[in-house]
Amino acid sequence: MTISPEQIVLRRPEPEDAEQLYVYRNDRKIADLLGGFSIGYTKQDILDWVEFHRTSKNEVVYVIAESGANRCLGHVGLYNIDHRIRTAEFAVSIGDESAWGCGIGAHVTQTMLAYGFGELNLHRVCLSVVSTNLRAMRLYERLGFVKEGELRDAQFRDHQYINVVLMSILEDQWQRPAC
Ligand SMILES: CC(C)(COP(=O)(O)OP(=O)(O)OC[C@H]1O[C@@H](n2cnc3c(N)ncnc32)[C@H](O)[C@@H]1OP(=O)(O)O)[C@@H](O)C(=O)NCCC(=O)NCCS
Repeated sequence: MTISPEQIVLRRPEPEDAEQLYVYRNDRKIADLLGGFSIGYTKQDILDWVEFHRTSKNEVVYVIAESGANRCLGHVGLYNIDHRIRTAEFAVSIGDESAWGCGIGAHVTQTMLAYGFGELNLHRVCLSVVSTNLRAMRLYERLGFVKEGELRDAQFRDHQYINVVLMSILEDQWQRPAC
């Protein structure tokens, strides 16, 4: 499957997305790239996740969907939005591996940064990424995120500690993509 960024829509999560999200959230390869730890998710956990993110007031979470088929490929969001300090945390996950490397990650990240800086009037967007996730770090650096530091041995995978990299982008460092 080759999907181009033009075939992508960002829309609010729906209960119908739970089937796909259940598969992605339980994929060990994705979990390793995201960091954190999970004992696995039930379908009810995923429905609760959808409901929580549909109604939460301090975040903007969108499903990354294939237009036409409307199939959920993953999700992207700005979390912990603080309107006083004008900050938010960014996270993205494309759960369907066949959609990686097609520019979708760059497209949805730019779309969320445009929304954060241009509509929410944010000053700073930050993120964390496990140091083994080279694809994600390359994407963030290309879009203007700067490495702020590294949390040493902050994750544990397969008998090994892994560092977690902290990155951020400020409003005046963000390059609006050419139309
Ligand atoms: C990380 C992720 C969002 C990237 O999305 P994507 O659609 O695959 O990204 P793009 O196609 O826009 O760009 C990927 C970039 O990584 C590069 N890349 C691909 N494989 C790579 C690898 N193994 N090592 C380093 N860079 C790599 C590509 O060359 C491209 O950079 P370029 O355009 O400068 O050449 C997506 O793969 C994903 O969701 N992965 C699973 C969950 C995850 O890792 N989320 C991020 C957690 S912080």
